[in-house]
Amino acid sequence: MLADLIEQHRPWQDTWELEEFLTWCQARVRPGGTIVEIGTHRGGLTRCLRDALAPATLVSVDVDPLEPSDGWHQVIGRSQDANVAAQVQSLVGDGRPVDLLFIDGGHSYPEAIEDHRVYAALVRSGGIVALHDIGAHPGDSPIGCHVSIVWNELERAERCVTWRAPGGPGIGAYLMPDMPC
Ligand SMILES: C[S@@+](CC[C@H](N)C(=O)[O-])C[C@H]1O[C@@H](n2cnc3c(N)ncnc32)[C@H](O)[C@@H]1O
Repeated sequence: MLADLIEQHRPWQDTWELEEFLTWCQARVRPGGTIVEIGTHRGGLTRCLRDALAPATLVSVDVDPLEPSDGWHQVIGRSQDANVAAQVQSLVGDGRPVDLLFIDGGHSYPEAIEDHRVYAALVRSGGIVALHDIGAHPGDSPIGCHVSIVWNELERAERCVTWRAPGGPGIGAYLMPDMPC
């Protein structure tokens, strides 16, 4: 049961939003796939992704280390840095092998837009690109939560799905369109 997983691993997520999102992903991400998360924090979502979607390769990036990383590859550093992106690429392999990208790291506009630019480029055609905190957070602006601005730009460009509980932070996702050969 996804609700049990979420209760057990305590991700920094709204329970309803995450349950709905993971259910949607289970129908689209093949077991044995490749997942990249930006923003590990305490590994709550990382463990939910590991257990709900059974990826063969799970990479999570954060500026702060988490010990131990439990069944995933941990990359430490600013996700926007070229050496960090290179470590992620070497772990997932060449080309666009990623089935699911979950962006939940730095929440300022420059960080979130750069995370999307760098890591969405690793997602295969038909793969999932998801962002957390897509809802406007009026009280959060002073601390720089501007993911909603990034999300609004993406919504104009892509066919998006959103999950937002009343007053919740919101998860948004889109399926990567076909790539030119
Ligand atoms: C909201 S928490 C992630 C929560 C986690 N995804 C979950 O659901 O349990 C955001 C994390 O992003 C990390 N972070 C912030 N800025 C970052 C950056 N520029 N590069 C990498 N990680 C960053 C923080 O250290 C923090 O652990």
